[in-house]
Amino acid sequence: MDTIGNSSWLFHLCIILFGFVVDNKRHHTVVAVDTISSGDSLTGNQTIISTGGNFELGFFKPGKSQNHYIGIWYKKVSVQTVVWVANRDTPILDPFSLKFTFLDGNLVLLNNVSKTPIWSTNLASNTLNTTQVVLGDDGNLVLRDGSNPNVVYWRSFDNPTDTWLPGGKLGFNKRTNQSQKLISWRSREDPATGFYNLQSDSSGTSQYFVYRNNSEQIWKSGEWNEESKTFQLVPEMSLNYIFNYSYISNVNESYFTYSLYNSSIISRFVIDFSGRIQQLTWSETTQKWNLFWSQPKLCDVFGICGPFGNCNQQDTYDSCECLPGFAPRSPTDWSLKDSSGGCVRSTPLQCGSKDGFSPIPTSGLPDKPLYSEIDSAEECKSACEATCSCSAYAFDYRCQLWDGDIINFNNVTSSRYATTVFYLRLAATEIRNPSPVSSSLVPVSTAAGK
Ligand SMILES: *[C@@H]1O[C@H](CO)[C@@H](O)[C@H](O)[C@H]1NC(C)=O
Ligand SMILES: *[C@@H]1O[C@H](CO)[C@@H](O)[C@H](O)[C@H]1NC(C)=O
Ligand SMILES: *[C@@H]1O[C@H](CO)[C@@H](O)[C@H](O)[C@H]1NC(C)=O
Ligand SMILES: *[C@@H]1O[C@H](CO)[C@@H](O)[C@H](O)[C@H]1NC(C)=O
Ligand SMILES: *[C@@H]1O[C@H](CO)[C@@H](O)[C@H](O)[C@H]1NC(C)=O
Ligand SMILES: *[C@@H]1O[C@H](CO)[C@@H](O)[C@H](O)[C@H]1NC(C)=O
Ligand SMILES: *[C@@H]1O[C@H](CO)[C@@H](O)[C@H](O)[C@H]1NC(C)=O
Ligand SMILES: *[C@@H]1O[C@H](CO)[C@@H](O)[C@H](O)[C@H]1NC(C)=O
Ligand SMILES: *[C@@H]1O[C@H](CO)[C@@H](O)[C@H](O)[C@H]1NC(C)=O
Repeated sequence: MDTIGNSSWLFHLCIILFGFVVDNKRHHTVVAVDTISSGDSLTGNQTIISTGGNFELGFFKPGKSQNHYIGIWYKKVSVQTVVWVANRDTPILDPFSLKFTFLDGNLVLLNNVSKTPIWSTNLASNTLNTTQVVLGDDGNLVLRDGSNPNVVYWRSFDNPTDTWLPGGKLGFNKRTNQSQKLISWRSREDPATGFYNLQSDSSGTSQYFVYRNNSEQIWKSGEWNEESKTFQLVPEMSLNYIFNYSYISNVNESYFTYSLYNSSIISRFVIDFSGRIQQLTWSETTQKWNLFWSQPKLCDVFGICGPFGNCNQQDTYDSCECLPGFAPRSPTDWSLKDSSGGCVRSTPLQCGSKDGFSPIPTSGLPDKPLYSEIDSAEECKSACEATCSCSAYAFDYRCQLWDGDIINFNNVTSSRYATTVFYLRLAATEIRNPSPVSSSLVPVSTAAGK
């Protein structure tokens, strides 16, 4: 009986171990369980996996990109979902030519020939031989002293990429006056430092801001309300049966953190490449990330659809389209839902009266028009015609002209509610034969003021 029991136990262990390695859609080889110790390294397709099997660390390739990065992703989620990237701005082509290892107490990514780090934790060097790095089941990668694990030198939770996981902090260090930032990826398949970041208010309020290009504030959360456990401008957070959000402020720091009431729920908070912050939860049933809340709405992000793009605001989701007579500048980026490059003319303008104007009913006009004293629609049109760089005009009680790129066109309401008409300058042929890309916005012939 003993023998049978033992062999059956061994048999099951083999199945478990075998399954561990094989049941991995990305064909990685597991070297250690969850730790890399001094003297060890990861290269090529080797990975480590957290003890409970929630997260995996190793080299990955985002989507169809040829670039490889060291990162952490969910092991139990069937859609590649990366939560942290080390060398986001220094991609590599061949993961077998690099080692993720230690150098002078730092965690580094080393070129195997030149031995120069292309990424490092950049801590003041310590020569401890006992340094190790452990991937926690919460997704936190911790660099610590192996002989005294309470001595922590560095944590990926303190150095996030674009994702804030439950248990992580997002805050402000009052001693150094530094705000922690979540910085978006450049595009869906490029983890390089992107254009958007989320950070706490450095002037000490409990607000969070989204900045574009590090300078332009495009969103704010409003102050934290301890009673309702929501930010003033994010009331949807109050549907709060999943997340335990808390705001903590003491002499050293102020930060925001969250946990899940049910720890078997998989959830993440991310700032995506288009500047939207999203709280998502993984659905086993649909094998998809479900949106819990998201801010700002796509069309609230200034110029999200790029030049000559139209942000189409719908009940369930917002989407970018090109204005009639225009096509995406980069169809590849556009298909990846990165529309910030905007749209280009399908047919060049002739300039002068050979061009025409396509009327687009709308409730809101794009920003930054030039106002003119002209007081009739016909003269307003002629004024635009007379300047080659004039792209559009509108006339309500005054004449508005747009020069060059049209940015931030938002198709907010249906033409039923349209209060004004925007006249977009197009080559005459485009007016007669609207290009197929733009067919959804059919020029309307009820041109007001004619
Ligand atoms: C990992 O890479 C090695 C070396 O190229 C290869 O022999 C092995 O089959 C790979 N393992 C998996 C699981 O793809
Ligand atoms: C360095 O990486 C290259 C490319 O994978 C490999 O062919 C070579 O053997 C490696 N050299 C050393 C010293 O590990
Ligand atoms: C660390 O390892 C090196 C080389 O293995 C050895 O020479 C050195 O004495 C060790 N240092 C400590 C503090 O153990
Ligand atoms: C942080 O900012 C406060 C207020 O602006 C200032 O008094 C303090 O000296 C700053 N501390 C550091 C370390 O820069
Ligand atoms: C981003 O900022 C840089 C430097 O501040 C500036 O030169 C550039 O024009 C900005 N880009 C955009 C798209 O605002
Ligand atoms: C919510 O989080 C706070 C702070 O982390 C913690 O003290 C509290 O116990 C949590 N509440 C529940 C119900 O988990
Ligand atoms: C603030 O930092 C000091 C020095 O690191 C530490 O002794 C103290 O306990 C901290 N206070 C709080 C409230 O975390
Ligand atoms: C926690 O979530 C899991 C997975 O969604 C579910 O099966 C379980 O019933 C939940 N537990 C509680 C106490 O709600
Ligand atoms: C503008 O909105 C209306 C009403 O929602 C819709 O029918 C139309 O297709 C939209 N046009 C474009 C170009 O998105």
